[in-house]
Amino acid sequence: MTEDIPSTPRKDLLTIGELSREEILSILETAKPFKELFTRSVKKVPTLRGKTVLNLFYEPSTRTRTSFEIAAKRLSADVTNFAVSTSSVVKGESILDTIDTLQSMQVDYMVVRHKVSGVPEYIARHTHAAVINAGDGYHAHPTQALLDAFTFQEIYPEMDGHRIVVAGDILHSRVARSVFEVMHQLGVEVGTFGPATLVPDTVPDFVTILTSFEEVLEFNPHVLYLLRLQLERQQANFFPSMREYHRQYGVTLDRFKILRDRGTWIMHPGPVNRGVELVDDVMSYERTLINTQVENGIATRMAILYHLTPEERKRPEPEAGQ
Ligand code: CP
Repeated sequence: MTEDIPSTPRKDLLTIGELSREEILSILETAKPFKELFTRSVKKVPTLRGKTVLNLFYEPSTRTRTSFEIAAKRLSADVTNFAVSTSSVVKGESILDTIDTLQSMQVDYMVVRHKVSGVPEYIARHTHAAVINAGDGYHAHPTQALLDAFTFQEIYPEMDGHRIVVAGDILHSRVARSVFEVMHQLGVEVGTFGPATLVPDTVPDFVTILTSFEEVLEFNPHVLYLLRLQLERQQANFFPSMREYHRQYGVTLDRFKILRDRGTWIMHPGPVNRGVELVDDVMSYERTLINTQVENGIATRMAILYHLTPEERKRPEPEAGQ
């Protein structure tokens, strides 16, 4: 474990920005022995025995929800998946009333995904449970960024001085914001590449904006991190067609050959739009880390659950004579 971790235990994980470099490194360090567990016949440790983890996903998810469920079970916690579509949310129950109700069931950790930015933070202010942001609007997806940092560190243990390019739909991507921050904190040089309409002016100053694939090659990233084109979030035409997007910004067969010759690693948070961000051949390339990212998601989320401390709840003392 690294030193310089805050002496007050951290209750929630809402953004990467609230974590110090030391805290990030500590989470990544903790994830390593958890990953080693996966090769054993018994993949469980008793760390969270007696605790309850609630997955509260107001938006669809495959990877994040499932890996939190597996992570919590490997820590011996009890897990409940709150199914929003069959809950009283559809009858109009407010977020706060839902949280009050769930809190009464003595939940210790809430893993929250919501389409509106800031909802996990709002919930965190109203519950004793430790709240983990599993993706809110366009804002943040800190657990994805931490598992990506873990994956990067496995191939480049000294991350300092290495380079990553995050390519695609930056505007609608909570993943991009969190990945920019975590990589910067760990000393990785960050570039970005995508249609001008999808690379907002608000990208942080430390990010180099690259405007052509030739510029990407000049930047010479160790890792090319492709983002999904978030068709469901787009309310305007940001480029003429999918085919045009692929031709200009995707990993086409010709570009893939160049990247493969250079030994560039490929990452993608998933789900992938095949034929848009990348051609099929990329999926079977030996330096494509997409499945490794998914596997590392479990170990990293175990480390995140381990790192957080729910607030203790004190029941009011019964008055004398009662
Ligand atoms: N990367 C990611 O957040 O995937 P899911 O939407 O499947 O959870």
